Amino acid sequence: MKIDREKVKKVFAEYVRHYDAEDPQIRLKILHTYKVSELCEEIMHDLFGSTKMQGRASAQKDIDLAWLIGMLHDIGRFEQVRRYHTLIDAKSVSHAALGIKILFEEGMLTRFIAAESEDPDVEAVRAAIAYHSDYRIPEDLDERTRMFCQILRDADKIDIFRVNCETPLEDIYHITKEELMQAEVSEDVMDNFRQRQATPREIRKTPVDYVVGLISMAFELVYPISRKIVARQGYLEHLLDFPSENEKTRLQFAIMKKYLIL
Ligand SMILES: [Fe+2]
Repeated sequence: MKIDREKVKKVFAEYVRHYDAEDPQIRLKILHTYKVSELCEEIMHDLFGSTKMQGRASAQKDIDLAWLIGMLHDIGRFEQVRRYHTLIDAKSVSHAALGIKILFEEGMLTRFIAAESEDPDVEAVRAAIAYHSDYRIPEDLDERTRMFCQILRDADKIDIFRVNCETPLEDIYHITKEELMQAEVSEDVMDNFRQRQATPREIRKTPVDYVVGLISMAFELVYPISRKIVARQGYLEHLLDFPSENEKTRLQFAIMKKYLIL
């Protein structure tokens, strides 16, 4: 697979031009795409620096592939927003599945890159995008495909912390500020957090459960470099300083801080 970055960026920019850039959800996803691709590159780069990956001749090829996967991972978001006016999959469609449909069934991938369909890198792109927002990735992936899935999932999580600090949470989750500031964390969500794992979507009930859901993603980060980036950026800490107006919730966040150490 030959990756021409300038071409990829040009095709992406042309694609998103068809969507309403005045819509904050569209704007947010354009910036998120660029950030995630940079993060994928940084993580992959760091893996080559670590002893485990040293000596691999295809370093630049893999760094380009990680970057490409970041660029394409949320392509389904734009149609999701246009059709359903939401970024919440549960209220619309799986944006990952929609992205796969656009890239692979409708052939959009070939506008970005020239590749034979039996190229294993094509399968890595498909798997990474298909599974990027799932709770867990399938067990039976080969090592290389699994690595690209993990890199994208780490990069996506890292940038989601930024997005949720820079965008008012009530805009993302269709709730009022008042509801968010008064809500308590559900007991199930707290229990799950104490097990140091991501919050399954179906146990979230209250508005503030979404915030805990976000924070709990940090438990799933795979690579040490990802934790370092999160610590360096400081967005997760900011989310943990959630300014609830509810005393019980403030206590719950204080407990969470003890469980989450990067
Ligand atoms: Fe996504």
